[in-house]
Amino acid sequence: MSSETDFIVIGSGVAGLRASIGMAEKGARVTVLTKDKASESNTEYAQGGVAVVLAEDDNPELHEDDTLIAGAGLCDVEAVETLVTEGTRCIKELIEWGAEFDSDGGKLIFTQEAAHSRRRIIHANGDSTGAELVRSLIAKAGTERSINIVPFAYTEGLIVENGRCTGVKFLDPILRAPREIRAKGVIMCTGGAGQLFLHTTNPAVATGDGMAMAYFAGADMADMEFIQFHPTALSLKNAPRFLLSEAMRGEGGILRNKFGERFMPRYDERAELAPRDIVARSIVAEMRRTGTRHVLLDMTALDGAFLKHRFPKIYETCKFYDLDIASDPLPVSPASHYCMGGIRTDLHGRSTVPGLYAAGEVTCTGVHGANRLASNSLLEGLVFGARAGEAAVDDSRFVKIDSGGADESPRGIAETSNAEIATAVRKRIKRVMWERVGILRDRDSLRRAIREFDQIADAKLSTSSRNFVTLAQLVARAALWREESRGGHYRTDFPEQRDEFKVHSIQRMNADISSAATISFQAKSVV
Ligand code: SIN
Repeated sequence: MSSETDFIVIGSGVAGLRASIGMAEKGARVTVLTKDKASESNTEYAQGGVAVVLAEDDNPELHEDDTLIAGAGLCDVEAVETLVTEGTRCIKELIEWGAEFDSDGGKLIFTQEAAHSRRRIIHANGDSTGAELVRSLIAKAGTERSINIVPFAYTEGLIVENGRCTGVKFLDPILRAPREIRAKGVIMCTGGAGQLFLHTTNPAVATGDGMAMAYFAGADMADMEFIQFHPTALSLKNAPRFLLSEAMRGEGGILRNKFGERFMPRYDERAELAPRDIVARSIVAEMRRTGTRHVLLDMTALDGAFLKHRFPKIYETCKFYDLDIASDPLPVSPASHYCMGGIRTDLHGRSTVPGLYAAGEVTCTGVHGANRLASNSLLEGLVFGARAGEAAVDDSRFVKIDSGGADESPRGIAETSNAEIATAVRKRIKRVMWERVGILRDRDSLRRAIREFDQIADAKLSTSSRNFVTLAQLVARAALWREESRGGHYRTDFPEQRDEFKVHSIQRMNADISSAATISFQAKSVV
């Protein structure tokens, strides 16, 4: 593999693949580094679908309004306008590239999810929408000869010289040795950090390394306190928290407590289709009230054949655990699902570090505000992945690749020797995040969490453990700073929204936490 390319994309989810395709179409050489196999990303596991304005009774203004309401006052209006208008074009383009969404008689089928005023969610193979996006994008990327996807390549850090990001350090999967690769620009598309919490719907790769790397490179991180907890993850002892899509409630699923009582109408008039943060907190309240570790998602009023066809993956997964979704109420509890915050970018994916771009869940574009509207994330990945790729190419017309020093000589992989310690550190952080920085937070729990994370951070750690604890610190510090409740951030000691906090939290390395009133900004590119 050459140690020089035009652009490096880190991550192979929807944002990374879309950015790569756009850059390759402009004639650029693109190297995609991904730490697992190319198809392994948060995108692959997305079930519900893609929210997009394509239905006859829908329009961009309605989608924009729903997104802004869900975002609880912290969305950037321009970013949302960009999402809902360009999103439709991006989906049509994807269909031209071969993506197949569920349809009936040639017409797309739209489903309902919480806080959408219209049925506007398209889906593929019932509940495997993300997998279809990945399949079609990988197939399209495969037709571009200038895209080189390197699987199992763990990126250790960004190279920043004279204030500009000029490349990355990574572990070469074949040589099993550290390498450097230089480029005109780096596009970070590593997804979110659901794994920071003990219970998560996210796959093992969602550890937030990209956020940590950007932070260490000097990038501004925005709104890290806003974590979305999905209300309905399958809750069985010794089983991963498998996502039971919100679309199940959209199709008529009912939440019941251990006595079989429907409880959501007592908490919110929108009942099961209230925004996710409300449903998640209501479930926690109901579990506490009734002394249980889960509530029940009841699909039994729906036709069995319909359920099997509409949710084939969920049907099969539940069957594996001896549950029939058509006849058994399913034990569910909330789990971490999505990070609204991340690398602060402008509307073209530019971070505050020249040469470093970002797209998808790893970013904070301002699209989601304090709470992401269901099924807006795949759309964000497509729209802002395309934009970031375009900006990276346009900004770098006069940029010369800095060839840097020679590759470092192989020195083994520090990660392996520290594997046991790394696992223990991670386990502890996940538990503390869940218990003290989770769905309900307060000053005392956050301070205790930060104290513990600071102690862990003082120790000698492997790269991945260092990334992990740093992210935990960023989330906990921002959560302590935000003395209010808004969207995905709930403080039991400050249960109301407060006007003085209608701002974004900004964190930068070696600087105190600060706030910014608006997130749209123009980072200067260095040419
Ligand atoms: C779901 O299917 O419930 C998840 C979709 C999303 O997170 O937008």
